[in-house]
Amino acid sequence: MTATDERLAMPRTFPAGFVWGTATAAYQIEGAVSADGRGLSIWDTFCRMPGAVARGESGEFACDHYHRWQEDVDLMKDLGAGAYRFSVAWPRVLPDGRGPVNRRGLDFYRRLVDALREGGIEPYVTLYHWDLPQALEDRGGWRVRDTAERFADYAEVMYDALGESVSNWITLNEPYCSAIVGYGEGRHAPGAREGHGALAAAHHLLLGHGLAVARLREMARPGQQVGVTLNMSPTVPVTSAPRDVQAARRMDLLVNRQFTEPLFGGAYASDMAETFGRITDFSFRRDGDLDIIGTPVDFLGVNYYYRLHVEAAPYEEADPARRSAFDLGVRTVTPQDARTSGLGWVVEPEGLYETLVGLTSRYPDLPPVYITENGYGDDGVLEDGGRIDYLRDHLAATCDAMTAGADVRGYFCWSLMDNFEWARGYSARFGLVHVDYDTQVRTPKASFHWMRDFIADPVVTGPVTTGPVDILVAGTPRGERPAGD
Ligand code: FCB
Repeated sequence: MTATDERLAMPRTFPAGFVWGTATAAYQIEGAVSADGRGLSIWDTFCRMPGAVARGESGEFACDHYHRWQEDVDLMKDLGAGAYRFSVAWPRVLPDGRGPVNRRGLDFYRRLVDALREGGIEPYVTLYHWDLPQALEDRGGWRVRDTAERFADYAEVMYDALGESVSNWITLNEPYCSAIVGYGEGRHAPGAREGHGALAAAHHLLLGHGLAVARLREMARPGQQVGVTLNMSPTVPVTSAPRDVQAARRMDLLVNRQFTEPLFGGAYASDMAETFGRITDFSFRRDGDLDIIGTPVDFLGVNYYYRLHVEAAPYEEADPARRSAFDLGVRTVTPQDARTSGLGWVVEPEGLYETLVGLTSRYPDLPPVYITENGYGDDGVLEDGGRIDYLRDHLAATCDAMTAGADVRGYFCWSLMDNFEWARGYSARFGLVHVDYDTQVRTPKASFHWMRDFIADPVVTGPVTTGPVDILVAGTPRGERPAGD
């Protein structure tokens, strides 16, 4: 064995007590969209828009988890996972987003949580994984402040129902996607392409998170935890030319720092005004909001899939005032010879290392981290060696980040099973378990067996990642509080 081989093969062990789980989201797996009084969500509406989702697919049936949950819990038991991250469909519980509670919707989650706990699986509940009640969208959705208040009320309803059995709460999943992909780029529900509206949505999501954290904390029992999940992508300029570096900085702001700065840095990102001042006057911000948004959390959930390699590009809209929040004069590129997933996503475990170590060094008060999603998409082969390699290498990068000082407490693989992959529909598959959507037969893939062995003996052998951490999230000036705030 050469020195390089030895370095590649060096075994690393995770600490005892590290949490292992899988993750899913309500709209992607439940189906049963009109069962037991569930209200409409923005995804039900969006899926009906011509051209919005590949092949006109929707989450109407998905994995029929609403009826097959027991079988899915049994799969988790086979896997040996000690935790499961799932989301609650807000419109199942509050069909109009507010007002009367739908007991039958709540009962579904009660049954699920009871079965998980009986099986020794700790539930990690995400309150919002993108399925806003359509009734609230009709009143302005996340563009308006009222939705943040309604979110806090909904959090309280959920804690009332499940607080005795659920100790781990995640307010939001990836507010970047809800706000910017949904209200800026228009690729996700509600399909809007706005500037001011998308930035208002980002702000109100953060505000709703802060209000919900405060509400949950008032009710929480000792030892219970509340956190938030962000998707993190280090941005890498393709050249060191200033225009590419500036483009990468704008992208880093849009995806990462827009959220991490107010949550963990106590300030809006310092380049918000410079980047977005032409499309918004930030009138959605009010005195005191930053303090609410920055309410301390017990953990940060990190979803990591890839780094973003970017270069400067022409803006889509010539008139700066009419640009969407997503129209930043930046283009994402796939570097030549890049390792890619079955979906063509760049595979770079070092990006996970950079994210974990970069956040740790940037935010002295960063709470402990759980990797709440990480996974590999392909077309659904059962002998999914590509997924095994991906998981192994990202677990190795996690270990190395912990050695470098990151406080990581758990890892949730996306996903337990193949499911409705949003605008890509059913063709993109991320599961450890294959789902035949015609018969609803579940078949564990090779990666499921690999993961089961790994969880039983969490020693990972994969490429070693070390510093220095050279990413914009670490290299950009910290935010500043606006004068008078
Ligand atoms: C994340 C989403 C999750 C899933 C994965 C592949 O952005 O949170 O629902 O779609 O991507």
